[in-house]
Amino acid sequence: MTAPILRRLADLRALTTEWHRNGDTIGVVPTMGALHQGHLSLVQAAKAGTDRVIVTIFVNPKQFNNPEDLANYPRTESEDAQKLVPYGVDAIYVPDPDEIYPAGFSTTVTVGGLTDMMEGPFRPGHFEGVATVVAKLFLQTQADKAYFGEKDYQQLLVVRRMARDLDIPVEVVGCPTVREPSGLAMSSRNLRLSANGLEIAARKNTLMQAMAKELAAGAPFEPLAEQARDDLLAAGFTEVEYIDLRCAETLEPLPNASRPARLFITAWADGVRLIDNIPIPAA
Ligand code: PAF
Repeated sequence: MTAPILRRLADLRALTTEWHRNGDTIGVVPTMGALHQGHLSLVQAAKAGTDRVIVTIFVNPKQFNNPEDLANYPRTESEDAQKLVPYGVDAIYVPDPDEIYPAGFSTTVTVGGLTDMMEGPFRPGHFEGVATVVAKLFLQTQADKAYFGEKDYQQLLVVRRMARDLDIPVEVVGCPTVREPSGLAMSSRNLRLSANGLEIAARKNTLMQAMAKELAAGAPFEPLAEQARDDLLAAGFTEVEYIDLRCAETLEPLPNASRPARLFITAWADGVRLIDNIPIPAA
């Protein structure tokens, strides 16, 4: 049986208030739907870490800076509910839009610093949209823990900082990226890749793994990044937006992996923007 689908905040509140009254902890997995194994791994982590699990599905218009991307975003609510059946989640919250952005809504949550780099300049307004909706989802679900994938690593750090700065009493838990057998990071946007696009896309991870080995052995980042840019274009990527090595904690740029780092690459293939990152242990 599918979990109850709640569309009104009052119904959600009635449940969460009752759960907390009974001493149950609440875990939330915020999503925009089109669920894949990556999301389901977050659900599994939430089931293991909390007594009650809510999956939220809301395609948040405020975080899309491209109207075409918003219009094309897959919306698959009934398939998503079916996919959640084996996990026994307690509720699926699919808020009516006016529960998130009621008429006259005029508050935006901005996280400084962490959003000035990488995804920030390429997607103006994106992180404000994410921080605003996630702040609302944290407050609406009254979650004790919230689960986010490391695939969107910058998002994970932004959300964690937002919760800390606003004193929202939720622990933000990061979970490892789930990959296809080809190494391609799972993403709802992969649905838009052709067979050829999928092949090209998978080459990015192979290249990142090779870079990771060299970085972990102490190689300087800049020459590796230059070579990687050429290799990606030769492999069929049409545009490389950024290749960055950054401190895993603060996201400051690093010349080499002298401390725990993440390697980030964002590039376009087959008309789809593909983001990915991997951990690099300190050399
Ligand atoms: O990662 C996502 O799917 C979205 O950015 C999130 C966290 C659900 C907010 O809309």
